[in-house]
Amino acid sequence: MSRTLVICKPDAVERGLVGEILNRFERKGLTIAAAELRLLDGDTLAQHYEEHVGKGFYDDLVAFMSRSPALVAVIEGPDDTFAIVRTLMGPTNPAEAPPGTIRGDFGTIMTENLVHGSDANESAEREIGIFFPGL
Ligand code: RTP
Ligand code: MG
Repeated sequence: MSRTLVICKPDAVERGLVGEILNRFERKGLTIAAAELRLLDGDTLAQHYEEHVGKGFYDDLVAFMSRSPALVAVIEGPDDTFAIVRTLMGPTNPAEAPPGTIRGDFGTIMTENLVHGSDANESAEREIGIFFPGL
């Protein structure tokens, strides 16, 4: 078993797509271990996106991620659940994401790409520790 951090980003909450997104994970056979709607602040996002701090797109990323509440969740499944979730999400840029993926079906631009998923088992444990310490 393993788990990963998922964030239904502010665009997904604003557009009423949280149910659709979580439903895709559940239909796949994964389970929701924790979930909470939260307004994310700059300090939390700096921890979460530590590898991106200082990059050209970072300020836009934080402005977007903190503009309205996001649904932060822990998704559980077999080994390497992070990879299953990333496959269902599709590539980072929705314009290039294939139909059938979350980003491919619902997004058009890079920033507003609907969903975050940890990119490795180590990232998943680090990110879960930020949002759900002690879980
Ligand atoms: P995420 O962390 O949000 O799940 O997305 P990801 O792994 O697919 O992509 P990542 O490289 O971690 O980038 C984090 C978020 O930053 C925005 N981004 N913009 N303009 C750009 O070149 C650029 N690169 C990344 C995206 O919104 C991406 O989700
Ligand atoms: Mg990432």
